[in-house]
Amino acid sequence: MSFTLWFTGLSGAGKTSLSSRLYEELLKRSIPAELLDGDVIRNNFAQDLTFSKEHRNINVKRIGFLSKLLNKHGVVAIVAMISPYAEVREQNRQTIGKYIEVFVDCPLEVLETRDPKGLYAKAKKGTIKHFTGVSDPYESPQHPDVVVNTDVQTIEESLSVILEHLKEKSFIE
Ligand code: ADX
Repeated sequence: MSFTLWFTGLSGAGKTSLSSRLYEELLKRSIPAELLDGDVIRNNFAQDLTFSKEHRNINVKRIGFLSKLLNKHGVVAIVAMISPYAEVREQNRQTIGKYIEVFVDCPLEVLETRDPKGLYAKAKKGTIKHFTGVSDPYESPQHPDVVVNTDVQTIEESLSVILEHLKEKSFIE
């Protein structure tokens, strides 16, 4: 049964790592899946978009539409995007139907310490403007289907929580 699993959360929270591990797990089970990662999408499919609220929402809706198309053809869509605005996430939930929202939660202080891409440091200096969590909003999900806490869980622990949820809801066996 196809579905869209949507990872939302701040930059560096672990969305990409979790999405690629989940992708591997689905392929291992011979479940057709596609990975739609924010950074990859922006480099290949959304070069026309900035990080304004309007453009982020266009980005999120565009990928929501693509996910629904993939689902229609029996392919699971695994999306990893900050997707900071609740209203558009909810619109996607309604249009996609089989939609599982995973909130990849991690305190900002931890992300600022990790900062592998050096983006938080640049955002704090003001070199990058409108950076989510620092100088741009992130609306935390109020009713996510799954929450993982990557400051206290390993990626494998968070992955198990997600797989358990998918089993419970009969999305996978
Ligand atoms: S979203 O807001 O439109 O959902 P998306 O997930 O596509 O964001 O892209 C986020 C990635 O873009 C981050 O992981 C980071 O590498 C990069 N990035 C560059 N500028 C910004 C910014 N101003 N805010 C957040 N991420 C940014």
